[in-house]
Amino acid sequence: MAKPKRRYVCQACGSVSNRWQGQCPDCAEWNTMAEEAAETVFSAKHDLSGGGRRIDFVALDSPVPLPVRRKTGLAEFDRALGGGLVPGSAVLMGGDPGIGKSTLLLQTAASIARAGGNVVYISGEEAAGQVRLRAERLGMSDASIKLASATSVRDILTTLGAMDAADLLVIDSIQTMHSDQIEGAPGTVSQVRGCALELIRFAKASGTALVLVGHVTKDGNIAGPRVLEHMVDVVMSFEGERSHQYRVLRALKNRFGAVDEIGVFAMEGHGLAEVSNPSSLFLSGRDEPLAGSAVFPALEGTRPVLVEIQALIVRLQSGATPRRAVVGWDSGRLAMLLAVLEARCGLSFSTAEVYLNVAGGYRLTDPAADLAVAAALVSALSDRALPARSVWFGEVSLAGQIRPVAHAGIRLKEAAKLGFEKASGPPEGSDKVGSGKAGSGKGMDYREMSGLLNL
Ligand code: TYD
Ligand code: MG
Repeated sequence: MAKPKRRYVCQACGSVSNRWQGQCPDCAEWNTMAEEAAETVFSAKHDLSGGGRRIDFVALDSPVPLPVRRKTGLAEFDRALGGGLVPGSAVLMGGDPGIGKSTLLLQTAASIARAGGNVVYISGEEAAGQVRLRAERLGMSDASIKLASATSVRDILTTLGAMDAADLLVIDSIQTMHSDQIEGAPGTVSQVRGCALELIRFAKASGTALVLVGHVTKDGNIAGPRVLEHMVDVVMSFEGERSHQYRVLRALKNRFGAVDEIGVFAMEGHGLAEVSNPSSLFLSGRDEPLAGSAVFPALEGTRPVLVEIQALIVRLQSGATPRRAVVGWDSGRLAMLLAVLEARCGLSFSTAEVYLNVAGGYRLTDPAADLAVAAALVSALSDRALPARSVWFGEVSLAGQIRPVAHAGIRLKEAAKLGFEKASGPPEGSDKVGSGKAGSGKGMDYREMSGLLNL
């Protein structure tokens, strides 16, 4: 038999090469190539057309039972999942270290256990005693969770196979798991993939909902091969600024539902608290209108969230290059908006430092934020507050026009609910707040945008 070939696999992207290289030729990461045993490759002589079992085809119009979901009891988690955990499915939960993944899953486990579910929580990162201490601090020591500290997938599956089928199995984290069938240290691509495969196979066979915690790399991807994301049914990301209280749970992939719903939590002294009205949370502490502050009705999936955008402009006396700093928004987009305001509205920012902040540690991705940012910038530049109880939304084009955005009606309705009376936005949205319907208001163009100056 031929000697197994050496191969080197990039631990960041999974790219395979037959020689070691300092830098991965695919993802350009440094020092990520590690030697792994080659996979078995069958020669072309192996003919697969025979000897197999016949598969059955299913007509698309034949009746299929909808997946029954099990509510986790945490409404915000259920919302992000699209209604609850599906038995036999696998969920991958990614997020920065210390963001609260273990806390969220421990609370979920306790909630399901309290509702009578059979829950197994395996930690490969902390000793069982540590997890118990945390559970005690969270006030959930009464929940009958089967808690263990283990890293061997064989041990875990042997144990689970000998007991009643679990409703929920949490593995914290997949990077710490180890299979004796596979070469390599825990956390390598082949170990992560192999362990995940075994656990997912077990979940499917036993109808257990499986949640795998996944570490993320510094650029925010789930560590290990991308293939892990393909293997699971749901990929969730738990996000937030560690220095802030707020955490957003987002579905990045969901085979059983939409991916545009979010769950909002606040990290408190006794664990994660659900936030059912995020707008009031992100706007809290905002009393009278201040110069440089604008409220933006953002949309997360179908859920509106009102956030405050703050701008600060500092005029420089010297000829030093002015700084531009952004927290919670895209810096490229800010540069574009500043250029549009200069070129189309005749406002000059070239000698000023510009700082932009989205309050509460919220991260905006909605392109409709352009107009609110422009309003905050103009307000900061002129040192005049925007009209009280007003919201701003719309995408700004390079020509200085305000382009329509999705779901103006939902944004307006949420603004009205929180006591806002005036909205400025694209044609469909520039109606008075309150009707919740797209109005017939006229769109703004750059001339009127310069009119923002005469607030
Ligand atoms: P953890 O769930 O361990 O994060 P992860 O598993 O994502 O790494 O959360 C750790 C952080 O959460 C820790 O820095 C402290 C904070 N925390 C609280 O503020 N309150 C609490 O009740 C708990 C349990 C944790
Ligand atoms: Mg953890």
